[in-house]
Amino acid sequence: MDRNLGMDFVRATEAAALSSGRWVGKGDRHAVDQAACEAMRRTLGDIDMKGVVVIGEGERDEAPMLYIGEELGTGNGYAVQIAVDPVEGTNLVATGQPGAISVVAAAIEGEGKLLRAPDIYMDKLVVGPAAKGAVDITLPPRMNLKVIAKSLGKEVQDLTVGMLDRPRHEQLIREIRQAGARIRLVSDGDLSLALEALDPQGEIDVLMGIGGAPEGVLSAAAALCMGGEIQARLVFRNEQERERAKQLLGTEDVDRVLTMEDLAWGNVVFAATGITGGNLLGGVRYTGWGAITHSVVMRSRSGTIRWLETHHHFHHDPRY
Ligand code: FBP
Repeated sequence: MDRNLGMDFVRATEAAALSSGRWVGKGDRHAVDQAACEAMRRTLGDIDMKGVVVIGEGERDEAPMLYIGEELGTGNGYAVQIAVDPVEGTNLVATGQPGAISVVAAAIEGEGKLLRAPDIYMDKLVVGPAAKGAVDITLPPRMNLKVIAKSLGKEVQDLTVGMLDRPRHEQLIREIRQAGARIRLVSDGDLSLALEALDPQGEIDVLMGIGGAPEGVLSAAAALCMGGEIQARLVFRNEQERERAKQLLGTEDVDRVLTMEDLAWGNVVFAATGITGGNLLGGVRYTGWGAITHSVVMRSRSGTIRWLETHHHFHHDPRY
């Protein structure tokens, strides 16, 4: 059987977006997360699969739901490893800013894999299909910018680098400016930026800088489906984080560069829905009869990328 689980998962990201979308601009981060998690958990629970969360909201004692190790699905069908980010950009939703998305990725057990990354920081370099195989995260940014520009057939000055707006990126920003490339800084949401970098039609050409490691694994799942590439390095703030990484990765060598083979490989699906409108995905728009959502569903095995506009008629579904 060759079922595209992504088509099931997108119902979960839509449900999370529809529920958390009610909280746009209301200043309540907790309510945003809770609404999304509840909707996502309920929807994932209805899918015919033996799912286990490998990237989630945290460990069981710190996350009431969608915690790492939580089992999801009816227990029938494929065994799958699931990575969730019910809301990427909780702040963006709470403050009514663009770019928040809801995301699920999964690997079919035995046919694919997602890295069980600890919830720490990760240095990332994400490029689309044209520059795949040409970049090297260990090189200075100016050298990577040169090869990316060459792969895309344009000048470095016409490249746009996406990055989180954080003080830790001061030096990186300086180097990119010296190289002459343009920069788009966002307050949150480097997974959204990664999707844009991966999409040949996206406004940014490369994502650079440090963000969350779970978002890095989700970016890798998207990269696998879109034919792009991510290279990454875990960033440790203390010994405890380093030890946790050793435990999860099952190796002492946690400083090495993580490649696509480490982060996501094989049979993987990815689904995302916009919560607040961004460059790739429109936000939830509520109407007199329900709501409209915008999603993307991708699958590594076929390379299919589906952009969906879904019209939800609430009188058919009292849950919303
Ligand atoms: P959440 O909404 O899940 O908290 O993530 C927002 C985010 O901006 C991610 O996109 C990014 O990877 C991470 O936080 C960066 O962390 P920090 O805000 O600590 O720099």
